Amino acid sequence: MDPSTSAGTANKEFLLEYRQLGKHFDSGHASMQALRDLNFGVRRGEFVSVVGPSGCGKSTLLNLAAGLMFPSSGEVMYGGASVRGINQQVGYITQRDNLLPWATVYDNIVLGLKIRGVGREAQRRLADEFISMVGLKDFVKHYPSELSGGMRKRVSMARTLIYSPEMVLMDEPFSALDAHVKLVMHAELLRIWEADRKTILFITHDLTEAITLSDKVIILSSRPATVKLVVDITLPRPRDAFALQTSPEFHSLFATLWGALKSDLSPHVIG
Ligand SMILES: Nc1ncnc2c1ncn2[C@@H]1O[C@H](COP(=O)(O)OP(=O)(O)O)[C@@H](O)[C@H]1O
Ligand SMILES: [Mg+2]
Repeated sequence: MDPSTSAGTANKEFLLEYRQLGKHFDSGHASMQALRDLNFGVRRGEFVSVVGPSGCGKSTLLNLAAGLMFPSSGEVMYGGASVRGINQQVGYITQRDNLLPWATVYDNIVLGLKIRGVGREAQRRLADEFISMVGLKDFVKHYPSELSGGMRKRVSMARTLIYSPEMVLMDEPFSALDAHVKLVMHAELLRIWEADRKTILFITHDLTEAITLSDKVIILSSRPATVKLVVDITLPRPRDAFALQTSPEFHSLFATLWGALKSDLSPHVIG
């Protein structure tokens, strides 16, 4: 068993499970409740998106899954055991890409392999595979400052996927991209994901993105966040990110999810 987790009541249905989760932050004299009575699970091989108002506790959920912080009440279970330390089984693509500015695209991408002591030859072979997967063959010697926002996201995806974590946590990875670059990234992520179906927990505030990519979408309430609605996205795969948006099923899912989300958005956001 991984030393970062300890035995709890195993539920083999889920790879990651939040159980009756509560999280508050204490800062000096004030205490702030971010999450309350929150329950949901992510099955092995499932792509689950979480959508919720800004500041409701979405990034906190990922930090808890990664073992970077711990619950105030309830439990975070991973692989049937409670997360009690850094969770080595997950790859975490944080909202800011955190690329090393002084390292080339190649060196940024093989960083995780180097840390894990993978040999040079294997590093090169895997790098070739993942660099072509994300379409960066012509940019291996470039530095992050020489790349567009979309390219930087590709580097951070390759950098995480290359060491093959069991599960990938993605925190609003495409939120800073232009609408058309985002669509291209959706198509790429669908292609990559549909090839090997890793377990993914994906945070977004974009309903279109959530429907396009996911098997299941979870809507959170405003803070303290709890699960408001869970919707299975049964649109057939492989999916075409472009064609999907004209389908009646897509519009009906959007209407359902928007109905749950809108009442928790502040009036000036909805306009
Ligand atoms: N380490 C922390 N210390 C204190 N407060 C925090 C910390 N992390 C998050 N928060 C607070 O918890 C709330 C939820 O934060 P976060 O999970 O980042 O929201 P979201 O990702 O949904 O925008 C926010 O009010 C934020 O300020
Ligand atoms: Mg966040």
